[in-house]
Amino acid sequence: MKSLLLTVLLLGLVAVLKAQEGPSDDQEDFSGIWYTKATVCDRNLTGGNIPKRTFPMTVTALEGGDLQVWITYWVPGACEVIFVHLERTSEPRKYTALNGKSTVYIQKIPVKGHYVFFCVGRRHRKPYCKAKLVGRDPEENPEAMEEFKKFVKSKGFREEYIIVPEQRDQCVLDDE
Ligand SMILES: *[C@@H]1O[C@H](CO)[C@@H](O)[C@H](O)[C@H]1NC(C)=O
Repeated sequence: MKSLLLTVLLLGLVAVLKAQEGPSDDQEDFSGIWYTKATVCDRNLTGGNIPKRTFPMTVTALEGGDLQVWITYWVPGACEVIFVHLERTSEPRKYTALNGKSTVYIQKIPVKGHYVFFCVGRRHRKPYCKAKLVGRDPEENPEAMEEFKKFVKSKGFREEYIIVPEQRDQCVLDDE
């Protein structure tokens, strides 16, 4: 009787330990600041005389697995902050946004502290697809850039459409 009880206890312990094994993918914490190192779109946005600037993106992980993302955009004469709520799905690192109009994937790459945010959706009723390489630090990372290029090709984007924006701490209006 005692040994049966012990076996049951041991099995229970094994189950608990298994459940605690390493942080599983979907429990990854994306909270905090992310720096955009490169972006690519399914259309050619590389042209024009407008400099490409990027600002740190802030992510907050909510209880239940959703993410809140604040993104700052600059165009001459305007700083725009947009807020996107990413709703978790049953798949790890797959989210929906804008009432299901967009799907966002956070793709792992084999470079520490770097991910690719990959967005597929519709904008102005046209299909729209975009990806960005983000990292935990603002430094240039050739290895991460190589991985991003592989990703870009694997998704059918054109490598020539990759934009490497200039990193800025914050958006300042009178700073053309
Ligand atoms: C993208 O557009 C810019 C400006 O219009 C042009 O200079 C460039 O050649 C285009 N790139 C590709 C790959 O078509």
